[in-house]
Amino acid sequence: MSGRSLVRFAGYACIVVLLLLTIGITLTVGWRPFIGPQKRPLTARHFEPTPERLKRGEYLVEHTSLCYGCHTAFDAKDRDTPQFLEAKGAGRVMADQGDFRVVAPNITPDPETGIGNWTDDELARAIREGIGRDGRALFPMMPYKSFRHMSDEDLASVIVYLRSQPPDHHDPGKTHLPFPVSRLINSAPQPVTTVAAPDSANPVAYGKYLVTAVGVCGDCHTPRDSHGQPIAGMSMAGGNIFDDSGHPVATANITPDPSGISYYDEGLFVRVMRTASVKGRKLNVMMPTWAFSGLTDQDLKSIYAYLRTLPPVRHRIDNTEKPSLCKIDGQMHGMGELN
Ligand code: HEC
Ligand code: HEC
Repeated sequence: MSGRSLVRFAGYACIVVLLLLTIGITLTVGWRPFIGPQKRPLTARHFEPTPERLKRGEYLVEHTSLCYGCHTAFDAKDRDTPQFLEAKGAGRVMADQGDFRVVAPNITPDPETGIGNWTDDELARAIREGIGRDGRALFPMMPYKSFRHMSDEDLASVIVYLRSQPPDHHDPGKTHLPFPVSRLINSAPQPVTTVAAPDSANPVAYGKYLVTAVGVCGDCHTPRDSHGQPIAGMSMAGGNIFDDSGHPVATANITPDPSGISYYDEGLFVRVMRTASVKGRKLNVMMPTWAFSGLTDQDLKSIYAYLRTLPPVRHRIDNTEKPSLCKIDGQMHGMGELN
């Protein structure tokens, strides 16, 4: 090859490599890690505080969306209900391992350390679209991938309720994510403009809304792979391990499979969600019945109706048995070796 054609060849190879890289990136992680998260400009919208919104917001924040379950430090060791160690909403360090630090910030109306100076749309965009006040992508442990399905009116109610709470001056610090996680999460946020109210006359549709839009059941009950991604085909099939109570416990399989909760009926489900006890078997404090017990009968029945429509997944889990390695979720939990 002559010098000139070598140069031409090298140039050509360069273009091919670039092209492959482009296609590869487009098909795999996409361009978001490089160009930042998708976000819409902020608006001046304002959510009028009304008694209806205050009441609805309290119901959602305290009983379905568990905002304070993450945004408040608590002690759950040997307890039936977690004991909050700070004012509700004052923030909590959720993970702190070397470079990897995730902080659920203060969401009380304190002007300096909380949300006191945020606009309504800054809050709306953070909760439903995953964009921080400073414009960055929020770590998706904040369940905005669920909350993006929250209706406009429910979103307004949540924000009105947060603002009605007592301010607490407390700075829990900032999230710090290592590279490349810090970039990869840029593909998670999605702009949302408007979400219609769910059909409250249809129990399955409304139950789905309670479980997947304003609820966070799947954040705990859908098992994750080693990259923290939900395992495909395993929706609500359990297996995530929590050890905040002082000993490890795996979330349950709540699909209608015989290895899940096929033996439940509506009455038993409502009793479990109210009492944390399954026919005498006491559930671990990490199953937040302390919050769910405040749900209305009708809402609990809708949640049950929806859970009944989930595809059954075979995945045996039993927290009363000695933990063993499970091939399905890669975790150690009771009956794991039988999967
Ligand atoms: C499963 C845990 C969890 C739940 C439930 C949760 N959050 Fe968060 N939230 C987080 C974490 C973690 C962050 C911080 C993410 C980051 O810094 O990247 C966060 C961040 C936020 C932010 C801050 C955005 C910013 O700019 O810093 C707001 C506002 C917020 N959450 C509100 C809420 C509200 C309101 C609810 C209930 C409707 C809620 N969160 C439920 C974990 C949670
Ligand atoms: C913070 C994590 C978390 C969230 C959120 C959560 N759960 Fe659980 N859940 C658990 C854990 C852990 C267990 C296992 C407790 C045990 O075996 O002692 C459990 C157990 C259960 C059980 C008992 C199953 C059985 O008979 O063994 C049911 C039913 C259930 N969850 C339903 C739900 C529903 C419905 C939601 C959403 C409305 C939900 N959970 C949200 C952690 C969670």
